[in-house]
Amino acid sequence: MSIAGKIGSGLALLAVLGFALGLGGLPAQAADQAKALESFKDRKCTECHGLTSHGIGKPEKKAEAEEEGEKEAPDLAKLSDEVMKKADPAAFITAYLKKKEKLHDKQHKKMFKGNMEELKNLSEFLVEGAKKKAK
Ligand code: HEC
Repeated sequence: MSIAGKIGSGLALLAVLGFALGLGGLPAQAADQAKALESFKDRKCTECHGLTSHGIGKPEKKAEAEEEGEKEAPDLAKLSDEVMKKADPAAFITAYLKKKEKLHDKQHKKMFKGNMEELKNLSEFLVEGAKKKAK
């Protein structure tokens, strides 16, 4: 190969690498917190859950949740061990909120209505927050 050819393919490789990194190829990309908080409020998670790590207090107890034997919605500043023990907690939450997974043998009370991208960001945000809390 000519020198020019070598330089050319070297540059092409660099360009590919740069492209991959620029497009979120970095392994631990943090969730978009502002977006996640917006989802949390817009999708009415706040009707049942508090998120005290972000100044969202515990909601007034809903009549729905007061039924006999009904589990109370936890503050999501922390996640339960059951969730955090999953191989991929964020993926579990995503599936759980789409009612494809169960927790305590039950589906989540509310089906997430937004798109998958929004749901994944929200799930990752919750897991990142819970991990910080656990430290
Ligand atoms: C109608 C009330 C209600 C709404 C609205 C609601 N949830 Fe829940 N959620 C619950 C209850 C009750 C539980 C506890 C279930 C259990 O532990 O078996 C729960 C559990 C969870 C868990 C598991 C927590 C853990 O660590 O065990 C996550 C995560 C979660 N909800 C996220 C959300 C998100 C995100 C939203 C908004 C898109 C939302 N929830 C909206 C009632 C609700």
